[in-house]
Amino acid sequence: MMQKGLFITFEGTEGCGKSTQVELLARQLGSLKHRVRTLREPGGTSIGEEIRHTLKHSKNNAAMTPEAELLLMNASRAQLVREVIRPALAAGEIVLCDRFYDSTTAYQGYGRQLDLAMVRNIVEVAVGGTKPDLTLLLTISREISELRRAMRQATLPFIRDRIEEASAEFFARVDKGYEAIAAAEPNRIRVVDASGSPEHVCLNIWQQIQPILPKAGRW
Ligand code: TMP
Repeated sequence: MMQKGLFITFEGTEGCGKSTQVELLARQLGSLKHRVRTLREPGGTSIGEEIRHTLKHSKNNAAMTPEAELLLMNASRAQLVREVIRPALAAGEIVLCDRFYDSTTAYQGYGRQLDLAMVRNIVEVAVGGTKPDLTLLLTISREISELRRAMRQATLPFIRDRIEEASAEFFARVDKGYEAIAAAEPNRIRVVDASGSPEHVCLNIWQQIQPILPKAGRW
């Protein structure tokens, strides 16, 4: 199937403001008459949302192994790629995805310290040839991230999130992972300083996106 659309993914550690930026960009593109689809991972399909619950919030997930986590993330991804992303791209839509396979490299590869070659092979099964055209990596300091993570756990005490319960060392490794990923693919991955106001970050993102946009209305 020929890809006609544009596939943009958002990445970053906990509390970097990705979800807000996905929404702002979707609104901006929509106002320019682009056809936009916003998705999130894990999730984005009914099967994927069930897997997301198992991964994050289920009260029975405490004993999950890193390998099971890796496979579940990629089961959700395999479904999303085939059920939604490929058809949307084939129809010429702009697909914005809140996390994609770089999250697996950063969290399961660097964070959980699973073998990186094995992680790559599993990701390959899930995505096949479906790769992002552009990835925005939102960066904040470890201190801001820890502060936001603590605030979230204090304000949402009844919504357990197994991954957010990981140690500060885990998240420091995730940061290192993202640094390595960005260094390895500078053309695809644009690093955006996300420590400013949402409006300021949004403007920086727009400067990255605008040059690669197809003319509105062409689709
Ligand atoms: P979020 O939607 O709040 O970002 O939550 C998703 C969580 O799942 C977040 O802690 C990052 C984690 N994650 C992985 O560990 N590996 C993955 O491949 C993906 C997509 C997410």
